[in-house]
Amino acid sequence: MPANAKLATTDFKTLSTTEALSESSRQSRSQLEIKPRRVSFDFNDIAEPFYYRGNPLISAMWATMSASFPAGEAEFINSVKLFESQINDSKLKQEVKNFAAQEAHHSLQHRQVNKLLDERGYNTAKVDQRFKEKMAERALKWSAERRLARTVVAEHVTAIMAHFALTHSESMSHFPDSFRRLFQWHAIEEIEHKSVAFDVYQHCVNDQALLRREFRYFSYLEFPFNVSMGTRFLLKQMGRKASWQDRKGLWRYLFGEDGLISSVKPLYMSFLDKDFHPWNLDDSVLVEEWKETLAPYFRDH
Ligand SMILES: [Fe+2]
Ligand SMILES: [Fe+2]
Repeated sequence: MPANAKLATTDFKTLSTTEALSESSRQSRSQLEIKPRRVSFDFNDIAEPFYYRGNPLISAMWATMSASFPAGEAEFINSVKLFESQINDSKLKQEVKNFAAQEAHHSLQHRQVNKLLDERGYNTAKVDQRFKEKMAERALKWSAERRLARTVVAEHVTAIMAHFALTHSESMSHFPDSFRRLFQWHAIEEIEHKSVAFDVYQHCVNDQALLRREFRYFSYLEFPFNVSMGTRFLLKQMGRKASWQDRKGLWRYLFGEDGLISSVKPLYMSFLDKDFHPWNLDDSVLVEEWKETLAPYFRDH
């Protein structure tokens, strides 16, 4: 693990139970300005369908993730907005607006890269359609509280993956430049707004049992199922079967030293800590550094 990752993952601020509960149930605990930025990337450098080290499994896995963002992020916005009228903390109210603006722009950029991926042979449009149907069904059948709880969990996942993207340069170096920059910009903003859904949940719902149930369901069933089904579907449509070598590459990518899952697991599981709050992991310095690096890609800089 790179040195800066070690620093960041050990930089936990521990709050007492009383302090954490009273603070988090009352108001926003954001530590960074939530700033929606316009960006511009030229995705034409994604020249090959299997753009990540020639590995079809890793490439299709990230194509699936990217395909899921437009429907997923729309649901994040909608589920938080269901509670907007109940928020009486003005800072948190403003953060909900900025969070929604950031998520909407993420989807716009992912739609563009998804279009390019489809030109390279994927069918992300079909995966996107399937996610849209799932989200529409959820909106009809689930309570507002459950939808928000699920968003809190998904935002935790994106925040720790964002932390990985900004601390694991070797792993990120194998993406084509534009795709890597897209993920890094997305990561900055995911970290900036990582506590918004959580703070709204604490403010308006504060049912910890429901939150833990959704965490387990999402972590052990829905997320791995959706990603593996999407990956299989995309490769099948392309008539590509994964070889033993491809599988080994994916395993190393996920579970090897500095692998995605091996690296994020402790942070991921911290969600179940009694005093969990997204900002117990203070990665604000990391974000400040990356804002400098990515500034040339910000259109309104
Ligand atoms: Fe996002
Ligand atoms: Fe987000």
